[in-house]
Amino acid sequence: MVRQTQAYRVSNPVDINVASASGAIQTPPRGANLETRQDNVISIINLNVYYGAFHAVADVSFDVPKHHVTALIGPSGCGKSTVLRSINRMNDLVPGARVEGSIKYHGHDICSPRVDPVEVRRRIGMVFQKPNPFPKSIYENVAWGARINGIRGNMDELVERSLRQAALWDEVKDKLKDSGLALSGGQQQRLCIARTLAINPDVILMDEPASALDPISTLKIEDLMRDLVRQYTIVIVTHNMQQAARVSDQTVFFSLNERRQGVLVEASPTRELFTNPRDQRTEDYITGRFG
Ligand SMILES: Nc1ncnc2c1ncn2[C@@H]1O[C@H](COP(=O)(O)OP(=O)(O)OP(=O)(O)O)[C@@H](O)[C@H]1O
Ligand SMILES: [Mg+2]
Repeated sequence: MVRQTQAYRVSNPVDINVASASGAIQTPPRGANLETRQDNVISIINLNVYYGAFHAVADVSFDVPKHHVTALIGPSGCGKSTVLRSINRMNDLVPGARVEGSIKYHGHDICSPRVDPVEVRRRIGMVFQKPNPFPKSIYENVAWGARINGIRGNMDELVERSLRQAALWDEVKDKLKDSGLALSGGQQQRLCIARTLAINPDVILMDEPASALDPISTLKIEDLMRDLVRQYTIVIVTHNMQQAARVSDQTVFFSLNERRQGVLVEASPTRELFTNPRDQRTEDYITGRFG
């Protein structure tokens, strides 16, 4: 059993912001005082994203409530991945991409040039569609990311705790030295989730995390999300409307306007969006008349 008393420490916690304390992100503390914090972990206000001259996402605004799963749905090309990548500054890495607007994380604008994108990505972790373990052992897949992120402490405990949280421990505890690449697709995805958890994030972004998996592995990832959301805040992109209905608390529906720009149509509690949509375009999409 993992003891929860070990404190994992970021080596240089004051170094998160290169210039000014005013824009510094505060590490959200774990535990009881989380409940006293504001309810929205992330607020996106008038987000516009361009790829060169192409205006891909137009004027998107929505909030991501704490300890909720927020699902982003909509037809292919409507900007779901683009919006998701904006939330942890991954679009910085896409040549030609430009992000305008404001994305507040616990009230701090993460788009500010003063904010260190690497620190943003540590607090807002990402799991991709295709499981991408490193060509290293299962143990090292979890420990290595934590180490390069400056996390110190008992690595054996951290690895075990992260693998347990990702519902993978029982399947791999006797072969931690085996390659992460030798696991099944579903196990590899849970390994990638464990790797993300080991860095002690606050928010987990997932871009179609189950679309490359078989139905049993998909259900495992969905169960895991419901488990993890008690401790984390999750934003998931999914093409699968049943999955959005099963796992999410809030659903954000995007569509394309006449200029082929991704626009937000409706952000509602999931049950409401699927049973009583506010917008005709949402209704057309969820009933299969469009998209
Ligand atoms: N790196 C890029 N360079 C240029 N255009 C891009 C780039 N990435 C995405 N786009 C364009 O931006 C728009 C939104 O793409 P995005 O990948 O965000 O859509 P999506 O909703 O995630 O689609 P899908 O459901 O197919 O994954 C599309 O028109 C796409 O072609
Ligand atoms: Mg996508």
